[in-house]
Amino acid sequence: MNLVEGTQTILWKVAQTPESGEMNPYAMDEDEQCIIGQIEVIVRTLPIEKLVQEAAQHLQADELVAFPTETVYGLGANALSRRALQHVFAAKNRPMDNPLIAHVSSLAQLDYLTPHVSSLVMRIMEEFWPGPLSILLPARKDLPQELTAGLDTVAVRMPQHPLTLAFIEAAGFPLAGPSANRSGRPSPTTAKHVLQDLAGKISGVIDGGACSVGIESTVIEVLEQEIIILRPGEITRSNLAQYGVPVRYDEHLVQRREMTASPRSPGQKYRHYAPQGELRIVTGYDSRVFNYVKDEISRAHTKGLRIATIGFPRDICIDADLILSFGDRAIDMAPHLYDSLRASDEAVIDVILARGFRAAEETFAVMNRLLKASGGIVIELY
Ligand code: TXA
Ligand code: MG
Repeated sequence: MNLVEGTQTILWKVAQTPESGEMNPYAMDEDEQCIIGQIEVIVRTLPIEKLVQEAAQHLQADELVAFPTETVYGLGANALSRRALQHVFAAKNRPMDNPLIAHVSSLAQLDYLTPHVSSLVMRIMEEFWPGPLSILLPARKDLPQELTAGLDTVAVRMPQHPLTLAFIEAAGFPLAGPSANRSGRPSPTTAKHVLQDLAGKISGVIDGGACSVGIESTVIEVLEQEIIILRPGEITRSNLAQYGVPVRYDEHLVQRREMTASPRSPGQKYRHYAPQGELRIVTGYDSRVFNYVKDEISRAHTKGLRIATIGFPRDICIDADLILSFGDRAIDMAPHLYDSLRASDEAVIDVILARGFRAAEETFAVMNRLLKASGGIVIELY
């Protein structure tokens, strides 16, 4: 059987324990079924230990199981198996030159991936793991070429979600974990997003609820004399400044040019997260921004277009066809950003206005994702 096409997909849900006072889910002995798109999904509700054992067995057969993390859902596969990794690229339709992040549940698992961890890297791991930080390490020579894309480094992280640590532990090997979306789509922050993109192509997804961070991990390279941020995320430059070595952003992140020919982190050269509608980022003084948003809503409607707003106060966009409002800081937007882009597609929106943020360390990661999603379209109203 071709594993990737026509696979029956399972949605694993954690059974509440009887102590939690809810109905006793252990009583459920029949699988439920639901349909996502055209595809049948089997819902299996199990206690955690049983769930991770069962899901891990699929990984051991080189199949794909998506898992929750604190950042976004990952598409899990045995990071040491070429066959499993080939399934990852096929299911996601991912370019082969884009390397994967290996997810570990313990420092002991690093032995599978790298011959050497420097003392500086060890201090950083101790501080930030488990957490949203991926670190490039020297790659073992025998790692599959699909994992590293032939580079001499391998990206590694220990995710924070307790279900996921148990899952990786049950598998017994590090998991490749690219975001569990089809290439080019917004990263998934719920199990439903995963199923929208990959039902029928993967063996299953473990439902761990909505991701708390909502954007992908910070990716860093640690050299002897400096730390380089290759992809911005929740762990910021000043978080990393405590080690007495300078921390800088990789050139492609600071050059305003959209894409350099060969950034150090290959994933950064692809356009990501693009919604079907035209996305514009709007930044500036609130009064000017709010007037612009109101005007654009009327203008869109005059032209017969459907318009969505992301991140603005509800009362200024009351006439929009889709209003996605949360608090007014970048960290308020992060957990909702990808869901908002997907919701705009579902609502068949033509124009999307997203709130942008003034350049600052804590807004950098969200602006980086917004810029990728918009193809760089920013309306500045200062
Ligand atoms: O938060 C995350 O990191 C999520 C969750 C699931 O853990 N995973 C994720 O994986 O975002 P992915 O495959 O969507 O992004 C991996 C990024 C890409 O930009 C890739 O180019 C970069 O990490 N990367 C991986 N290995 C690398 C390496 N050896 N050198 C440079 N960049 C690397
Ligand atoms: Mg991704």
